[in-house]
Amino acid sequence: MKKFLKIALIAFAVIVFVVVVAVIYISSSDLPKYDVLQVDLKVELSPERIANGKRLSMMICNHCHLNNETRTLSGKRMADLPPEFGVVSSRNITRDPKYGIGSWSDGEIYFFLRTGINPKRGGSYVPPWMPKYMHAANEDLYDIIAYLRSDEPELTATESEAGPIEPSLLVKFLARVAFKPLPYPENPISRPDTSDLLAFGKYLADGMLGCFDCHAEDFKTMNIAEPEKSPGYYGGGNLLLDMTGSKVYSRNITSDKQHGIGNWTDEQFKTLIREGFRPDGSIVSFPMLRARFLSDNELDAIVAYIRSVPTSSKQNQPRPKYELLHNASEGEQLFYDYGCASCHGSDGKGYGDLTKAAIKYPVDSMLVDVIENPAKYWQNTLMPTWAGHIPEEEMKLIVAHVKSLARQ
Ligand code: HEC
Ligand code: HEC
Ligand code: HEC
Repeated sequence: MKKFLKIALIAFAVIVFVVVVAVIYISSSDLPKYDVLQVDLKVELSPERIANGKRLSMMICNHCHLNNETRTLSGKRMADLPPEFGVVSSRNITRDPKYGIGSWSDGEIYFFLRTGINPKRGGSYVPPWMPKYMHAANEDLYDIIAYLRSDEPELTATESEAGPIEPSLLVKFLARVAFKPLPYPENPISRPDTSDLLAFGKYLADGMLGCFDCHAEDFKTMNIAEPEKSPGYYGGGNLLLDMTGSKVYSRNITSDKQHGIGNWTDEQFKTLIREGFRPDGSIVSFPMLRARFLSDNELDAIVAYIRSVPTSSKQNQPRPKYELLHNASEGEQLFYDYGCASCHGSDGKGYGDLTKAAIKYPVDSMLVDVIENPAKYWQNTLMPTWAGHIPEEEMKLIVAHVKSLARQ
């Protein structure tokens, strides 16, 4: 018996030792690296390309790369990333040759966007904190590349280092077992026929805009190569975080009448996608953003396609109530209830900085105006247009709270 105990103890010690060594090894090593394919590409810069690239980029790239301080795509802390992934920032993708991507070739950008393998960082593969575009049509990627090379103001060469990227042990571990680069497509991918609404809608919803990523059951089980095989495809339930760090579950958006959005009209569905407001007037919470720049045809296609996917009877998770830890003022409560906090964060420093608003708009009526009509101030803003959504009395209380954020 004693001998058995001794063997068991030794075996246990060996296992502990191996685990400790593995943990030390994984945590002290970099993310795995992969082979980089040299892609020979020169994208011609036409005004049409740049315009479409900008439109696409505003819907799929800029919200992650736009820095509030510089107003350029110089990168920022990804505050809504679950903390178990570590500390992550997006990178500087302005035209600056040193800090940005001014020295990348067209082929390098193309290869990176397709596969997630970074040619300028020794072939390291980017974990899921940046999407990859394996289904994107070549022409759409070329348009994005043309835009990144253009003189648009948000791409002005900006000399600032991107913030820290410190992947957690969990990410480093998953990078070895689960996060693998996507295959580089053997043949060029052409744009679908835009009059074939179902094919075009699938392309946009699954391939470009990431609707399926968030609206499947779980990022860990989603199938990027064949989206429709993802568990819970469009049935929602995926756990995300808003800018206050609170949990938000994506929702069932299949046409199930009881659990999905089968009772919404197409117009209501389109208003939510483009403007962010539901039929009852409430705003959809961050991280779902408005896709303001979709054409009517694109919007029709997305709605037609999502309407066509098999219905799911999955029940939505209730939106967890915010627990305000102190005695919130009425204004602060409204700031949460209307969903302002979901983007701006509890302290106003989240997505869109509010801490200088009281100085920039010293008179209350100015502050009301920027809240109600933000598009007058920023052409490309993702801040919703609140005009007509908040009664005057409540707006006063919200404004008072926004002003108090500057003092905190
Ligand atoms: C969900 C947020 C998110 C979106 C959307 C996103 N990115 Fe990124 N991007 C990141 C993060 C985070 C990194 C840093 C990744 C790393 O190095 O681990 C990054 C890195 C990059 C890099 C590498 C830069 C370098 O110096 O290594 C390029 C280029 C880039 N992104 C371009 C784009 C383009 C173009 C789009 C749209 C087609 C886009 N990104 C969409 C978050 C995002
Ligand atoms: C970054 C993740 C993300 C992306 C991308 C995304 N959604 Fe959402 N979506 C969510 C979350 C989370 C909610 C629930 C928010 C809430 O509780 O207010 C939601 C809610 C919705 C709703 C409201 C459903 C309801 O019952 O109120 C619709 C409709 C919707 N999304 C459609 C889409 C479409 C179409 C796309 C692509 C154009 C898309 N979403 C892209 C995360 C996302
Ligand atoms: C979908 C995310 C989102 C939601 C929801 C949202 N905002 Fe914003 N807001 C922004 C962004 C982003 C900006 C910065 C403008 C830009 O960069 O385009 C902004 C700008 C502002 C500004 C101007 C700040 C400045 O310094 O110029 C104020 C004030 C403001 N928001 C208040 C509110 C209030 C009040 C609510 C709720 C009723 C709200 N926002 C809801 C994203 C959001």
